Amino acid sequence: MAKLWAGVSSGETSSIADDFNSSIGFDKRLYAHDIKGSIAHASMLAGKGIITEEERDRIQEGLTGILKDIESGALKIDPTAEDIHMFVESVLTERTGEAGKKVHTARSRNDQVALDMRMYLKDECSAVISLLSKLIGSVVDKAEEYKDAVMPGYTHLQRAQPVLYSHQLLAYAFMFERDMDRFREAAGRMDASPIGACALAGTTYDTDRVFEAGELGFSGVMRNSIDAVSDRDFVLDTAYACSVAMMHLSRLSEELILFSSWEFGFISLSDDFTTGSSIMPQKKNPDMAELARAKAGRVFGDLQGLLTMMKGLPLAYDKDMQEDKEAVFDAVDTLKMCLNVFIPMIASLTVHPDRMLSAAKEGFINATDLADYLVGKGMAFRDAYKLTGGLVADCMKRDITLEEVPLSEYRDCCSLIDEDVYDAIDLSNCVKKRQSLGGTYPESVTAQIEYFRREVL
Ligand code: ARG
Repeated sequence: MAKLWAGVSSGETSSIADDFNSSIGFDKRLYAHDIKGSIAHASMLAGKGIITEEERDRIQEGLTGILKDIESGALKIDPTAEDIHMFVESVLTERTGEAGKKVHTARSRNDQVALDMRMYLKDECSAVISLLSKLIGSVVDKAEEYKDAVMPGYTHLQRAQPVLYSHQLLAYAFMFERDMDRFREAAGRMDASPIGACALAGTTYDTDRVFEAGELGFSGVMRNSIDAVSDRDFVLDTAYACSVAMMHLSRLSEELILFSSWEFGFISLSDDFTTGSSIMPQKKNPDMAELARAKAGRVFGDLQGLLTMMKGLPLAYDKDMQEDKEAVFDAVDTLKMCLNVFIPMIASLTVHPDRMLSAAKEGFINATDLADYLVGKGMAFRDAYKLTGGLVADCMKRDITLEEVPLSEYRDCCSLIDEDVYDAIDLSNCVKKRQSLGGTYPESVTAQIEYFRREVL
């Protein structure tokens, strides 16, 4: 495709350089946003008398036709065009002649690409937010379905204290809610239009940036033309929000993998989301969760690459910034792909409360409750902790649980202990008694579910 920028430079680049320089292979996905931006630009130019109303109409009809033809497949995006901006402008000029040649008045590709990326990523943030909300919906429904299942809660992956599985699941719902916030904040910060900054210094034409921003749905304009074309912090914000959400998904993946193993047996993933082995007929492998866990690393790599790409760039525009696209597109695409898998995968998993309960019965996860019981009877916590530790060590030697220690033995050990100790260390009571705000007791889980239904879903 002929170079629109052939000026002092002849435009006769080597084809190797053309291939190296070209971004159309990946920025073609910006076509709709690019066209929308040019339609608004033509309105602004005509509004300010920089082009005529007839020229505006020809440009806008031409652009609308290009959009329609790309979408129907009638117009193929030319892979030899340098980038999507050049492609659209060349086709427009082919189709509309003199009018098309005027669309690039009072703008530059530098503000154009910054505009397209902001518009595109704002839309992507909304798409991710709605997927996250669907995922929270799956998590909340699952928590409600298995509201009363008691399991061992873990620290250091060692059995720690009894919790409701619903409480543990809802922990992820809160993480995903904050992820939604991160995308909202990213979208909010990028909601200022760079168009009209032109190459870097603004323009000698009497333009109306505020009008153009409004046409494109922005709440405001960027106030410094150099900043407008130079920074890609909004790309980083998006990649960071993707990274944190992927980190959360990866932790959930790890838990699904672990909990669905024979060793735990707490949950089963549905057949729709597991694979078999080519040799071992008994296998049900959690491939989707494993892939999501791995893809987190890839998205972190996108963020890291972007940060490194930006860190040494002199103001204003540098071609290095063309490299922002593949990284952030990959980060967003990967997250969306994972969310699309997780929404039905969580919805279709089965929980095994019996297995959870039998695991909860071992490991002395009610030891804290015994110590708290003694505190209730007047003992200082540190003394209660020590006494309970001794009792647990003794039980371990004898291979019995705290529930199996006869009252007489308890009383030999400490006269403060009465028959009510068995209630105090009963696993479901242990859960019910954790009534501190945000604790694992059943009403807390109900309140959390209600919160999500009321405020988030
Ligand atoms: N394809 C370029 C990018 O993605 C568009 C901007 C080009 N600007 C320039 N002055 N060469 O960054």
